[in-house]
Amino acid sequence: MTKSKSDNVVWHHATVTRERREKLNGHRSVILWFTGLSGAGKSSLAHAVEEHLYQSGCRTFVFDGDNVRHGLCADLGFSPEDRVENIRRVGEMAKLFLEAGVIALTAFISPFGADRARVRSLVPHGEFLEIFCDCPLEVCEERDVKGLYKRARAGEIKDFTGISSPYEIPRDPELVVHTGALSLEESVTEVIKFLRGRGVIG
Ligand code: ADX
Repeated sequence: MTKSKSDNVVWHHATVTRERREKLNGHRSVILWFTGLSGAGKSSLAHAVEEHLYQSGCRTFVFDGDNVRHGLCADLGFSPEDRVENIRRVGEMAKLFLEAGVIALTAFISPFGADRARVRSLVPHGEFLEIFCDCPLEVCEERDVKGLYKRARAGEIKDFTGISSPYEIPRDPELVVHTGALSLEESVTEVIKFLRGRGVIG
C-alpha cells in the first residue's frame, strides 16, 4: 500500500468483504493485465475476452489506455515519468476493482517492467495475471491502425514506444498470446482456456 501524505487518514474496514462479493458473483476476481506494443491488439483482445466473460455471467470491466487518458489520466503525456504515473494510477484503480469482486482487464502498453512489477506487488500472489500480447514491431507498424507509427517515424511524435521509447518485454508473464499470428477468436480461446486452468472461471 502507498503511504498516505497525511497521518490523519484511517483505513475503514467494510463488512461487505471481497470474499462475500466473490461468493455473490460466483467467480473469483483477478486483474488481467494485457501488455504489449501499440497496435499489438491489447484492447481488442481485452474487450473480446470481456464479451465472452460477460456472456458467461461474470462481472467485468476493461480499462483501456486510450480511454483512461481522456479522463483519469488526461493530465499525463508519454514521458517516462508520466507513463510511470499512468500505470501507478491504473494499478491502484484495478486493485479497487479486485476488491469489488470484479474481473478487471487492463489494456496499457505499460512498457516498463518495474511498473508492472509494482502493480503485481499491490495485490495478493496469483491475482495479477500478466498477459503479454506478443506482436512484432514490424506487424504493429504495418497495421498502423491509428497512423501513429508513420508520424513517429517522421519525427512528429516523440517518445513513441518501439520507435523512440523502449518496451521491456515481460520476463515471466503468466501467459503469452501471439497476437501477431493468431486471429482474435483464437487469442480469446487461449485466454479463456488459461482462466479455466487457473480456476478463475468454471
Ligand atoms: S503507457 O505507455 O502509458 O502504458 P497507454 O497504453 O496509456 O501507454 O497509451 C498508449 C496509446 O496512446 C497508444 O495505443 C497510442 O494510441 C497512443 N499514443 C500517443 N502517443 C504515444 C506515444 N508517444 N507512445 C505510445 N503510444 C502513444
